[in-house]
Amino acid sequence: MLGVLSSAVALLVFAAENYISGPTAMREYIEKCAVGLACAMAVSLVLSCVLQRVVSGPVIRLAETTTAIADLGDYSIRVKGNYTGELGDLYVSFNKMLDTIQASSNALREARELLEKRVRERTAAIQQEITEKGKVQADLIQAKEAAEAADQAKSEFLANISHELRTPLHGILSYTRFGLNEATTAEREELWKFFDNVDHCANNLLCLVNDLLDLSKLESGGMTFVAQPADLSHLIEMVVDEFRSMCSEREVSIGYQQSEAATTVLIDPDRISQVIRNLLSNAVKFSPPNGTIHVELRRAGDAFRLSVRDEGPGIPPEELETVFDRFVQSSKMKSNKGGTGLGLAICREIVGWHGGRIWAENNAAAGCVFHCELPLARPDSPPDASETVLTDSFEALR
Ligand SMILES: Nc1ncnc2c1ncn2[C@@H]1O[C@H](COP(=O)(O)OP(=O)(O)OP(=O)(O)O)[C@@H](O)[C@H]1O
Ligand SMILES: [Mg+2]
Repeated sequence: MLGVLSSAVALLVFAAENYISGPTAMREYIEKCAVGLACAMAVSLVLSCVLQRVVSGPVIRLAETTTAIADLGDYSIRVKGNYTGELGDLYVSFNKMLDTIQASSNALREARELLEKRVRERTAAIQQEITEKGKVQADLIQAKEAAEAADQAKSEFLANISHELRTPLHGILSYTRFGLNEATTAEREELWKFFDNVDHCANNLLCLVNDLLDLSKLESGGMTFVAQPADLSHLIEMVVDEFRSMCSEREVSIGYQQSEAATTVLIDPDRISQVIRNLLSNAVKFSPPNGTIHVELRRAGDAFRLSVRDEGPGIPPEELETVFDRFVQSSKMKSNKGGTGLGLAICREIVGWHGGRIWAENNAAAGCVFHCELPLARPDSPPDASETVLTDSFEALR
């Protein structure tokens, strides 16, 4: 604008000097007009500058404030200035609008934070649920596997029982049939043999049924134990004596030694005799002719240890533990003389009830040794106290 005004003034001066060739007064007049015009233009220029500052300053400030808010995202910024009239109204309205936006923004932020908190809580709850469901699922799988294993064990057990029952029953039936067919023709001696075989098979059957009953009672906790002080050494001697004739029949020698002065313990003598009987019957059964069985009783820490050592075939190392399972026989015996495979399972249950332990080892030279430890003092509570009958003397010994 300044350029335009200067050009207009210069043009007037130029016109006055070059094109107006009138009298001097005229020229002076024109020159004065030009100067006046220039002054008026200068004044109007200054005025317009001042007016521009007054009118557009607040608008510029408003624009700057808007930009700052947009850049910083800070709705707490306010446009400042005391104006009256329309500008003042504009500022007040603008600041009010910012108040509303700030309040909405705060409410929005709080709502978002609340939502995030709830999402976090729900996520944690879902994860917890998933973990618990996983656990329940794992428990269910475990229970299912246990049920399947039990089912499998039951089937095997039934198959074993059927097999074991069938063998003596077959014997009884076939010898009875022979006897019936040949009752009139056979010699007395031959008939006696038939009856003897029937008697033998029937006894085997009875032993098996007794063993099964014992085992099922022991496992279900239905067996009644009568604990009383008993001389263990005397008990062993009595059972060893029972086996002497069988040993001499099989040309096996048997010896018993013990190194303790007092061997009285709190036990169920009948059940412990049953254990000793099975260990000795196994030792005799598996001893070679001219073999020797050593029975020994000694102190081992807080227990008495009974050991039955033989010179038989021994037990494969990997089967030293499994021979204590029901119906399990050592692979060395399967084609040979073994029994039903219940004896050691029963022994383990009985010894376990007494708070003791029973296990097998192989001898360095030949054969194996079965150890059975019975604690000097029984644990405070037997495995299932409800099934136990304690005598007065048991209480006295405590
Ligand atoms: N002294 C031993 N020497 C070698 N093997 C043995 C001996 N004692 C036990 N065993 C093995 O352990 C198996 C299990 O013995 P366990 O006494 O449980 O059953 P069993 O004698 O076969 O039958 P029963 O139920 O009539 O006692 C035996 O069949 C045999 O294979
Ligand atoms: Mg046996």
